[in-house]
Amino acid sequence: MEHLVQLSTDQYKDVAIITINNPPVNALSPSVVHDVAKAIEQAGQDSEVRAIVLIGAGRTFVAGADIKEFGKITSGKSERGAEFLPLLFKIEDLPKPVVVAIHGNAFGGGLELAMACHYRVAAPNAQLGQPEVKLGIIPGAGGTQRLPRLVGLVKAVEMCAEGKPITAWEAKQLGLMDRLFEGDLLSGAVAFAREVTAKPIVKTRECDDKLKISGQDAAVFDSAREKARTKQRGMKAPLAAIDAVEASTRMSFEEGCQVEQKLFRECLFSDQSKALIYAFFGEREVAKIPDIPKETCLIPVKSVAVVGAGTMGGGIAMVFANAGFPVLLKEVDQPALDHGLGTIQRNYLSSVKRGRFTQEMVDEYLSRIKPTLTYDEFGEVDMVVEAVFEGMALKKEVFAQLDHSCKRGAILASNTSTLNIDEIASATTRPESVIGTHFFSPANVMRLLEIVRGRASRKEVIATCMQVAKKVGKVGVLVGNCRGFVGNRMFGPYRREAQFLAEEGASITAIDRALYDFGMAMGPMATGDLAGLDVGWRIRKEYRHLEKPGVRQPFAEDRLCELGRYGQKTGAGWYQYDESRCAVPDPEVQDLVHKWAREAGIPQRNISSDEIVERSIYALVNEGARILEEGIAQRAVDIDIIYLNGYGFPSYRGGPMWYADTVGLKNVYERIRDFHHQYGELWKPAPLLKRLAEDGKTFAQFSQDQAVVA
Ligand code: 3HC
Ligand code: NAI
Repeated sequence: MEHLVQLSTDQYKDVAIITINNPPVNALSPSVVHDVAKAIEQAGQDSEVRAIVLIGAGRTFVAGADIKEFGKITSGKSERGAEFLPLLFKIEDLPKPVVVAIHGNAFGGGLELAMACHYRVAAPNAQLGQPEVKLGIIPGAGGTQRLPRLVGLVKAVEMCAEGKPITAWEAKQLGLMDRLFEGDLLSGAVAFAREVTAKPIVKTRECDDKLKISGQDAAVFDSAREKARTKQRGMKAPLAAIDAVEASTRMSFEEGCQVEQKLFRECLFSDQSKALIYAFFGEREVAKIPDIPKETCLIPVKSVAVVGAGTMGGGIAMVFANAGFPVLLKEVDQPALDHGLGTIQRNYLSSVKRGRFTQEMVDEYLSRIKPTLTYDEFGEVDMVVEAVFEGMALKKEVFAQLDHSCKRGAILASNTSTLNIDEIASATTRPESVIGTHFFSPANVMRLLEIVRGRASRKEVIATCMQVAKKVGKVGVLVGNCRGFVGNRMFGPYRREAQFLAEEGASITAIDRALYDFGMAMGPMATGDLAGLDVGWRIRKEYRHLEKPGVRQPFAEDRLCELGRYGQKTGAGWYQYDESRCAVPDPEVQDLVHKWAREAGIPQRNISSDEIVERSIYALVNEGARILEEGIAQRAVDIDIIYLNGYGFPSYRGGPMWYADTVGLKNVYERIRDFHHQYGELWKPAPLLKRLAEDGKTFAQFSQDQAVVA
């Protein structure tokens, strides 16, 4: 086995090279830390060595502490990790200059390691950051104390509390980076190390200049807290990170490190951190499909076509263009095409105004989108995404045409949100090339992409779509073919329950407030207004014949639609909307719902916010359990990742299935059983939930057991 850390004194003699080699991202596992400490000691004692260069092997410098270790620490299986902080003191105290050479990422513990070195040099494309808050923790090895000493309080607070990385160029301007090397990083770093051997050693922890109390400090921290409370609502780690950086202004470095340690451990042992770490690994796990090996051949996708330039098609075209793909965009007629292109241009313009893109970038993206009214050039593209109106007859017509126009082997994908992929595929002579790619609105913003596996979809087609998802910056999750797939199928009962609650007497604002406070990005009523209440209304009308007689159905939303209240698009739905689409509570709607409910004989009562949350979230969980048992979702984590990325579920609660596991499936099952007795058939507990609750297991364990069986 290759050594995790290599010390070389042969190559340059006077400059020792310490290389961290722990693929894929050189995470600082306890063994790596131990070996770096050993190498530093050896190089320190070698009288021929005048300077040390610390570098990472492979694609990156160091992506941080080994996140897998955290679970071992919190479950009491490991106490390791304690050697890291002393190593940083050891490096800083070395009488020979230590130069760190950074390529790829210096994240978390990687940046903390770099800051303890005496000099930092980097490749221009390197990125540096303290992303710990995204895992529900804060920097735990002096990062909150050394960073402000190097970049000043404002930037340090921002980096530690928001977790966003900065480029090597920005780092250079801020004083975090000493030099950038365009060419070979190692030889640049060695030359630099020789240059600085004669200079006095400067320890970062002793550089207090940038910590000077300026009278502005309180304002810096107050406004950072304010921002964290709105932008990272409900999350504890950003506030802890701000407290830790603030400590650097009030006490010695060593005392500051103790404050940091205490806050770090509090965060590490919190439920939020466990959920966020689960989500981090979950996002990577969903890319792994048990029956599709990693080596599966991929279909080269170099160009794409999108059929339909409406709400979704336009956004999907932007997604591909932004990622470098040439895109053919087809519409039925010139006015529809002009309308679609106009919307795309407006969206890009607003991105430039908000500073997300420059005008040059937008010009380039737009130049990649080629409008067309025919299928003439479809023979050249490798993948098509269809996004025409939702209707089986039209979809089949389009797919028959694609079958005729596209080359063999091209991927034919539908963006349908409700229709059967197999039936769509039956309109072609190549169902094996047909698949669902269910983007979420707005397609150019939302990260989620449900990839819907048809009965005949080839493994190569699935694997390629998963890879394309990654290329265009989406989180692809493979799901089975059923009505609503995973996300929308679960969302149905969730939104239905919100209506029931309103019909039983809960106010519309109370429902939204309870779920917003739970952490959802928006309440269910406001979400309905945003998506358009008419969408669900049309679907319910189409499927009314499938409803079981005698089973309670909600009616309030249908009645609102009958009154022309479709939501934001008509200026009124559950709420009223002004010009800026700001929701204003509408007492008339509240009265109407109460009146309709009384007429229907539904007793009115006060409903607590706990009941609102339980009924809404457990409705998700119960349907999720069915989806899991049917194999529509491969694992519980797939459902969670869908909910975190497509439905505004709070990341610090890990997703509905993880949340249910943390509440305890026995507790969840008992509540659902109560609801079943009180509210009837629709609350019938999912058999899997009942079984797991009785066996004292979790959804996560169920998924693990399934993997073992497979
Ligand atoms: N620890 C353990 N495993 C890690 C890891 C880490 N810090 N970072 C990445 N990995 C693993 C991933 O799980 C993945 O494993 P898999 O192949 O088995 O699925 C593999 O490395 C490759 O990762 P990605 O698929 O994410 O690769 P990318 O190239 O897309 O992204 C990255 C690379 C930008 C470095 C990204 O992995 C990342 O953001 N990593 C986490 C960075 C982070 O949060 N660091 C802070 C850690 S906490 C810390 O340092 C505390 C300290 O203050 C004491
Ligand atoms: P839309 O009504 O905004 O756009 C549909 C477009 O398709 C129209 O511009 C129309 O002119 C065009 N079109 C119709 N027939 C065509 C043909 N033969 N060739 C080329 N263009 C044609 O509809 P929207 O909302 O964009 O929906 C498209 C698909 O995406 C539907 O299947 C829908 O279910 C799905 N979807 C919609 C979401 C949403 O939030 N709007 C979310 C996820 C999926």
